[in-house]
Amino acid sequence: MPGSIDLRSDTVTLPSPGMRKAMSRAEVGDSRRGEDPSVRALEEYSAALFGKEAGMFVPSGTMGNLCAVAAWTRPGDVIVASSASHIAGREGPAVSHMASVAIEGIDAPGGIFSANEVASAIAEAPKRAESKVRLVAAENTHNAGGGTVFPLSVLKRIRSVCTKASLPLHLDGSRIFNASVASGVSPASYGKVSHSLMFCLSKGLGGPVGSVLLGSREFRKEARNVALRIGGGMRQAGIVAAGGLYALKHHIERLAEDHENARALASELDDIPGVEVVNVPVETNIVLFRWKTPSMGLPAVREQLVQRGVLLDDRGFPLFRAVTHLGIGKKDISRAARTLREVFTEQGHSST
Ligand SMILES: Cc1ncc(COP(=O)(O)O)c(C=O)c1O
Repeated sequence: MPGSIDLRSDTVTLPSPGMRKAMSRAEVGDSRRGEDPSVRALEEYSAALFGKEAGMFVPSGTMGNLCAVAAWTRPGDVIVASSASHIAGREGPAVSHMASVAIEGIDAPGGIFSANEVASAIAEAPKRAESKVRLVAAENTHNAGGGTVFPLSVLKRIRSVCTKASLPLHLDGSRIFNASVASGVSPASYGKVSHSLMFCLSKGLGGPVGSVLLGSREFRKEARNVALRIGGGMRQAGIVAAGGLYALKHHIERLAEDHENARALASELDDIPGVEVVNVPVETNIVLFRWKTPSMGLPAVREQLVQRGVLLDDRGFPLFRAVTHLGIGKKDISRAARTLREVFTEQGHSST
């Protein structure tokens, strides 16, 4: 809806004028043959940023995670992940079907599990599944947990557990730059603690398409074979890769503004009677909030919000998610908060 304040996700961001210019100038070639200079530039820049040997540009985070899981495991294996993670939830059916692995989920507040929980999952899973754990995956930031940041110290302890059990640690870093900007931990530190890492260009960074999967050269070879098998071989992908590279060079530091806007929205929401912010304190760009006393159903709420020009994601009504991003300014936050107050209080109901 043009003109709406779109807080559904940071995937709705549109390419900025500078990004479009970079894309229009991109040198391209046949990327499936490894001949697209813009794709290669993006992969090399990304690998250097995280201190990894190699990177692979893929069309989506879902494909990046799937390639990682399939590269690290064999059919019948078990992987450990938070139960609420993207890998276990939305990607679960694809991972089970296409990589043929089972997922041992850890229920952890905000999706941040401990090294001890990983150790017991590694020990317990074989008893249930008669199969071995072959991979541990952590999501940073954790989407369903409310954009929570995995503390580096916890990741280091998890890595030690993985090392003891000879297991790789994969980071679903779909929003790793939000984690980095919020915590001050460098991308290279996240690269060092993990064996493989996927990050998305098409979320808060504002790139048009794609994600990058990083790891050793050997891992990339394995993961690339998986990508090619499932149709991930792209041709003149440099046009979109150039947008991604522009995002890496220009849109990382500004994520701090999104975090500030998310905190401002959370504080306004907390002031609305009957509304409770769930993920307090808000760590990055995601605000989860509950309408504790709903006096209308989801379709009516949606209609009211759409009419007033605010778009939200529901996370199981009456739980909602608002995500700040590059298309949202301070004024949008004030307007969205005013609208939500109208809709969630008597003032809003009287106008239905
Ligand atoms: C944590 C996380 N991982 C992976 C993905 C998948 O990314 P994509 O939508 O590019 O497939 C998402 C998408 O929202 C996500 O939030």
